[in-house]
Amino acid sequence: MTSSASRFVRLVETQRPAISITVDGEPVDALAGDSLLVAVLTHRGHLRQSEFGPEARSGFCLMAACQDCWMWTPDGDRLRACDTPVRTGLIVLTQPPDMPWPRRA
Ligand code: FES
Repeated sequence: MTSSASRFVRLVETQRPAISITVDGEPVDALAGDSLLVAVLTHRGHLRQSEFGPEARSGFCLMAACQDCWMWTPDGDRLRACDTPVRTGLIVLTQPPDMPWPRRA
């Protein structure tokens, strides 16, 4: 079971410019300079579901080493949320898109 409550609370640097990204089709407010992980976890309790069971995953190392924070673009590219900076218009999914594999270029 997952919680929809946010995992992170923003306490400082609240004056950075606001930008908007889209997560699973829903707009999410972020601040310029946020990592994707910070942007998502200030709005949700997790980044994605585990591929090995029903558990929710929220990242672990926060330094691009553990591979626990994968998110996906609609084109099927994987992004490490902890080392991907947000940008205006970024669209991400919390589950891999349903598409044939291997992808065709
Ligand atoms: S949290 Fe470990 S790779 Fe992103």
